[in-house]
Amino acid sequence: MDKNTIVGIIGSGAMGAGIAQVAAVAGHNVIVLDLNADALVKAKKSISGTLVKLQEKGKLANADEIIARFTFADDISALKDCGLVIEAIVEKLEVKKSVFAQLEALVSDTCILASNTSSLSITSIAAACANPSRVMGLHFFNPAPLMALVEVIPAIQTDAALIGPATELMKQWGKLPVVAKDTPGFIVNRIARPFYSEAIRIYEEGIADMATIDWAMTELGGFRMGPFTLMDYIGHDVNYVVTETVFQSFFYDPRYKPSFSQKRLLEAGWLGRKTGKGFYNYAEGAAMPEANKDTILGTQILERVLAMLINEAADALHLNVASVADLETAMTKGVNYPKGLLQWCNEWGADKCLEKLDGLYNDYHEDRYRASVLLRKQAIGNKKIV
Ligand SMILES: NC(=O)c1ccc[n+]([C@@H]2O[C@H](COP(=O)([O-])OP(=O)(O)OC[C@H]3O[C@@H](n4cnc5c(N)ncnc54)[C@H](O)[C@@H]3O)[C@@H](O)[C@H]2O)c1
Repeated sequence: MDKNTIVGIIGSGAMGAGIAQVAAVAGHNVIVLDLNADALVKAKKSISGTLVKLQEKGKLANADEIIARFTFADDISALKDCGLVIEAIVEKLEVKKSVFAQLEALVSDTCILASNTSSLSITSIAAACANPSRVMGLHFFNPAPLMALVEVIPAIQTDAALIGPATELMKQWGKLPVVAKDTPGFIVNRIARPFYSEAIRIYEEGIADMATIDWAMTELGGFRMGPFTLMDYIGHDVNYVVTETVFQSFFYDPRYKPSFSQKRLLEAGWLGRKTGKGFYNYAEGAAMPEANKDTILGTQILERVLAMLINEAADALHLNVASVADLETAMTKGVNYPKGLLQWCNEWGADKCLEKLDGLYNDYHEDRYRASVLLRKQAIGNKKIV
């Protein structure tokens, strides 16, 4: 695949429009398909607007040339000459499968078919095709033009020879690709779960309020946003649904159990910033709660959440979800963690991390707090996770 490859994007929503922009800036002719005419108009306007703004800021020299690389279409047959198609439509397996089956019948045998799904199995999407060996996941992060990470996910049917060229293409697009096994949540959406769920657990138990937990994670931990601020920013319709899907996909492993506090927000329609209310109230004049800046309490909060995050990263490594380097890149570039979790484990000490988890396990007797066998092995003699 090179710049002459025509790239098809199915779905012109937040992700589709962003990925289309990335491909066109990288030099490809791009065909954007959506069944919804309004969505197409909106995408066309927003992509052109963004490219012109980038030119005004001096970040691009040729906005008009890039804009001319786009075609917008409402009929899937427009994608017949594409060499790569990336699907970014609604997160519903049956709809995605039907689109992949239609697509396969149209395009050439060498066209790569990719899905941007956040939470569905690539293997199950690929199974909709007579030739599933050219189907893979290419998981971009929101906003796609700004976030460097792309998770490249081979399905169990994917031809292994396609992973190198796909990874190479993502690099040509200015991205940082990592390869992840087709397991629930891939890398980022799996390992990041405790950042949200353990923070909520601490809040639900009354150990600390939201503002204090957010303060501990940002000020003491160096995370860019605290978990409650971040969940409100992502939206509970997205964040809760990812948690629930990951939980179900892991056969209801308690490590990924969703929380009632967040479910209630979703039920109330308090989706976060976009609705003016979530964990926090964003109404004009509403006072934001003050954190209790007690360093001892803050350190306890940080260490509890961090131990859970490190445990997820260690377990993902243990189960060969990705390499050490890719796990570290994924968490620092996909969700902007201040450092890789395995590096953090090495610095903090696997023994201390294990002690924290075993302490929680002893207190609760819940499987949620079971330590990964890799962490347990590394803790003996406090070996580094290399
Ligand atoms: N939003 C995120 O933060 C994010 C991040 C990574 C991945 N994803 C994944 O990307 C995909 C798209 O998410 P989004 O947030 O851009 O959604 P969105 O709702 O903003 O856009 C989806 C678009 O797909 C169109 N569409 C639906 N069915 C279609 C069909 N059969 N054919 C053509 N177009 C169709 C809709 O009209 C809509 O414009 C989902 O699989 C989602 O899980 C989302």
